[in-house]
Amino acid sequence: MSAPTTYSKLQIILHWLIAAMVAFQILFHDGITALWKQRMDGTIENVATPNPHAIVGILILILVLVRIFIRIKRGVPALPASEKPMMGTIAKATHFLFYALLVGMPFSGAAAWFFGLELPAIVHGFASTVLMTLIFLHIAAAIIHHFVLKTDVLKRIVGRN
Ligand code: HEM
Ligand code: HEM
Repeated sequence: MSAPTTYSKLQIILHWLIAAMVAFQILFHDGITALWKQRMDGTIENVATPNPHAIVGILILILVLVRIFIRIKRGVPALPASEKPMMGTIAKATHFLFYALLVGMPFSGAAAWFFGLELPAIVHGFASTVLMTLIFLHIAAAIIHHFVLKTDVLKRIVGRN
């Protein structure tokens, strides 16, 4: 099966919906972090109550799995032909790492939250730093592609190619 030349509507919706949910997770984790610390200090009972960060995080996992399934079934547009091999490799590695983090983080977060485990919490915190670095690189790459290299990669993820 040859690679499609565009992202489908569903792929585009999922990209932006997940991006918004990930932004929510990064911006609004203060509540769960404070509760987590109190549980670990023994200041509050060791009970994991429903929490917006936990709920949104589990929804991200489900949507990312749907997205990976569609990616395997339908495929994604090839990288621009003008892309230097080295940059193409970095793009592919970044996208792969995004998927790995977005599947792994809900599990590490859930292991910390539901079972009160310390190591998964440390992994979760480290993964969030890696995720934020990748997001920064990803946005910078999108801007450079659009304004400097003048490729259509930004256009195709907003559905305007
Ligand atoms: C892709 C989904 C998720 C993202 C992007 C995410 C992101 C984050 C971030 C940025 C922090 C703050 C880390 C720090 O300050 O060092 C955090 C903390 C936390 N998250 Fe998540 N999270 C996700 C899913 C989940 C889920 C599903 C749960 C629970 C069911 C969860 C439970 C926690 C807990 C308990 C903490 C506080 C302990 C810690 O710092 O590791 N997270 N998360
Ligand atoms: C914060 C969360 C974000 C995450 C987790 C994320 C993740 C991803 C992933 C995994 C892909 C690869 C899609 C695939 O081919 O399988 C992708 C594509 C893309 N993203 Fe994001 N993204 C985020 C935010 C953004 C933002 C804010 C922008 C724009 C400024 C952006 C611009 C793009 C572009 C242009 C592509 C298309 C690359 C191509 O066609 O080869 N993303 N994103």
